[in-house]
Amino acid sequence: MMNWWENDFLKVKNQKLYLDEKEATEVAEEYGTPLFVYSKRQILSNLKRLLQVFTDKTSLELKIYYAMKANPSPGILKILGENGTYIDAVSPGEVDMALHVGFPRKKILYTGTSVSLEDLHQIFKQEGTIVNIDAEEQLELMKETRDRWFKNKKILVSIRWNPGIGIGFSPKTVTAGIKSGSGMPVKFGVEEKRVIPVFQEAISCGFVPIGLHQHLGSGWIRKDFEKVKCAVDKIIQMALKVEKEGFSLEFLDFGGGFGPKYYLDQEIFPIKEYAEYICRKIEESGLQIKTIAVEPGRYLVGDAGILLVKVEYLKKNYGNIFACVNAGTFNSVPRPAIYAEANHHIINCSEVNSEKKAKITVAGNLCETGDVFGKEIEMPLPKRGDILAVLCAGAYCRSMASNFNLRDIPEEIII
Ligand code: LLP
Repeated sequence: MMNWWENDFLKVKNQKLYLDEKEATEVAEEYGTPLFVYSKRQILSNLKRLLQVFTDKTSLELKIYYAMKANPSPGILKILGENGTYIDAVSPGEVDMALHVGFPRKKILYTGTSVSLEDLHQIFKQEGTIVNIDAEEQLELMKETRDRWFKNKKILVSIRWNPGIGIGFSPKTVTAGIKSGSGMPVKFGVEEKRVIPVFQEAISCGFVPIGLHQHLGSGWIRKDFEKVKCAVDKIIQMALKVEKEGFSLEFLDFGGGFGPKYYLDQEIFPIKEYAEYICRKIEESGLQIKTIAVEPGRYLVGDAGILLVKVEYLKKNYGNIFACVNAGTFNSVPRPAIYAEANHHIINCSEVNSEKKAKITVAGNLCETGDVFGKEIEMPLPKRGDILAVLCAGAYCRSMASNFNLRDIPEEIII
């Protein structure tokens, strides 16, 4: 029987993990550990699936803006660029990287927060890049930047509104609504009653608004679908209002948020039904838009990456068993250390499904108790020298890694 996490990248033969066609332990031997391994095949199959669920249901154009914050590795950007994606960038650094690997300026949507004159100066240099406005107050800085350095330049914009509904796997990743689940005020987007005035102001400042955007948050699961549908209805209602006020919209951008399966009993978000819902609702609404945009990050790359680590020794202490590995979470897969809700499945590459299991805590090499890749997980007892694979490490792992304790960040390869 297939393991729930097997895909176009990860396969098991005779109890051993294979990465595409290569044995994981051999890859570890050849390149050393810790090591990020990404799979071109899996990225492309994720991309194809996402395109398919929308194009099956609509004749409108679909633009997939890859949220490169998930993983800005140049090799990954190239694969996606060569296969038709656009870019969701959130900083001048990301825009520069996207341009560097060959994305045309026109394929980049810049969604900043707390933007500065310096940020805007860099962005406006790239004529054709669409600037997604996160705050009414941003318009003043944009006008100042344009008037000072880029007189008469045509600047395309969209408005990021906050529909009052936010959804994320952790309160820290809820990006719409008034306050997140933990009571944190949500900083993103323009509130409902200011959306039309912001369109008016943008025009009177000389900008050209062409889109409406929302991003509810990250890490949706099946039970979030009802709420997501409400938010789809809300953006469509708002877009109708915008059109009625006389502004024409080229695109509606639904943001990202959906993703791969991280753990066994996670019921994944129904992407096919979501696409079907968006397409049907847009059609029924009579909106004049030409394009549907989505901004997936983890959906495209999450399950296309793993981290290989080596067990240095097994430590038994006060009844706890630790597999002590040669990487630190903060330096490689920081999500479990940052988010209490994050869960990355871990397997032993040379003994994937043994009957003899024990409760193991996979601990890293940093001076912090929270430096744990997996807490008390049931897995075959590893031994010194075994290679473990931390799954679903393609998104928000390398991109959030630091040099804490002056440890290196692992190398990355794409197979
Ligand atoms: N669009 C916008 C405007 C975003 O802010 C984000 C993510 C995305 C798209 C892509 O979201 P995705 O489809 O990947 O869920 N560090 C966290 C995730 C933070 C995401 C922030 N924004 C984590 O490790 O889960």
